[in-house]
Amino acid sequence: MTEGSKSLFIKTYGCQMNVYDSERMADALEPLGYDAAASADDADVIILNTCHIREKAAEKVYSELGRIRLLKQRRAERGQRTIVAVAGCVAQAEGEEMVRRAPVVDLVFGPQTYHRLPDFVLRIENGEAGLVDTDFPAEDKFSRLRQPSRAQLATRGPTAFLTVQEGCDKFCTFCVVPYTRGAEFSRPVGRIVSEARNLAEAGVREVTLLGQNVNAYHGEGPDGRPSSLGGLIGALSRIDGIERIRYTTSHPRDMDDALIAAHGNNPKLMPYLHLPVQSGSDRILKAMNRKHSGSDYRRIVERIRHVRPDIALSSDFIVGFPGETDGDFHATLEIVRDIDYAQAYSFKYSPRPGTPAAERDTQVEEHVKSERLAALQSELTAQQTAFNRKCIGRRLSVLLERPGKRSGQLVGRSPYLQAVHIIAGSSRIGDIVEVEITGATANSLSAEPCVENNAKQAGNRPLTPAEVIL
Ligand code: 5AD
Ligand code: SF4
Repeated sequence: MTEGSKSLFIKTYGCQMNVYDSERMADALEPLGYDAAASADDADVIILNTCHIREKAAEKVYSELGRIRLLKQRRAERGQRTIVAVAGCVAQAEGEEMVRRAPVVDLVFGPQTYHRLPDFVLRIENGEAGLVDTDFPAEDKFSRLRQPSRAQLATRGPTAFLTVQEGCDKFCTFCVVPYTRGAEFSRPVGRIVSEARNLAEAGVREVTLLGQNVNAYHGEGPDGRPSSLGGLIGALSRIDGIERIRYTTSHPRDMDDALIAAHGNNPKLMPYLHLPVQSGSDRILKAMNRKHSGSDYRRIVERIRHVRPDIALSSDFIVGFPGETDGDFHATLEIVRDIDYAQAYSFKYSPRPGTPAAERDTQVEEHVKSERLAALQSELTAQQTAFNRKCIGRRLSVLLERPGKRSGQLVGRSPYLQAVHIIAGSSRIGDIVEVEITGATANSLSAEPCVENNAKQAGNRPLTPAEVIL
């Protein structure tokens, strides 16, 4: 490896928080001369940033490591050295076991210590191996992370994730997050605002605030007192250039008055809310330790729709939680019909070692889980398709994010987070354009630009690298 020509490949599994973490890892290694590699085959450092939330996560990582072992061997035969690291929640859960079972791994580090990555990589470059760091350090990792450079931001397009909160104290009985990500922690408002300003200056127009339990946010505000997520969104919406704000994932218990009010009165806060309910049965919600009932959830949705009638709602569902009966499952279908979702994610319950629900002796049979999942998904897909079809003929604003598959096509997002395909015309990635929706499928919309409203978009902004390849 020669200084300045080293390459890095990060494979990211799981949620948006991992996407954000992977970007921060790339930022952290930039000063050591690591640039993005096109594939694992020609990378000097390979990082698997793993997720442990559902199904056989660890097994998937071990089989990927089997492939990487061969790759590392082939490179070694050519005299090239490869550093292999495993990060994220599987790394946190497996720890030492990982280097024992897969000696190809040089470094195992959990989500709380990735700011130490440059130091680890230097040590491995100097001959150390088998490093494991799964601490939950008291230091604030975010304050030790590098802000991305302009050049790096320019490759990432007009939308960005921004982690504002991490960890969870809720302890839902099915979930590993409180164990792998640790206790809830919120970053101070000032730091988040300065990161968002940096993003805006590099051309980012939409930020999605991330946290496992994002609306439990209580970071220190400018006056030294804790700020709510509503307050943070207010501060971010005053930044020039940031036109759209989203947040995910929320817990129903933490939808406080300020946040609900923001949905009614902050035009930069997009009308989309991912608010997982998990189940419609009060008995199962209690067994899940969700701390809300079906009617609590319905009431919250009613209050949000009161201030923002067009809001697009999304949720997560788990079917086949231990002890779930047909009656419980029907209560889930019922809440789905009552709420009418714009989109949703649904999963079969998967026992996570170390969580209380995994110990229950009332596990539901696999075929029952599969049948329930199919029934639920068919209802959710019908709702999503209906939501999309209702948009036909409407004018919506779309933030253009990337080239489409067809020549001259661009893809962006509506305020409701739907993917929208348009013929670009004079519009560019990063523009927010008015379009008329002309078609809809279950997963996306097609649209035509409304020419008269978009003339003002054509400014003298320099092209980003993503645009130059168009
Ligand atoms: N089994 C199935 N789904 C799970 N989720 C979390 N843990 C489990 C599990 N053990 C789902 C929940 C959560 C989403 C991120 O993943 O629905 O909201
Ligand atoms: Fe897991 Fe979310 Fe429950 Fe926290 S609130 S334990 S992250 S499901």
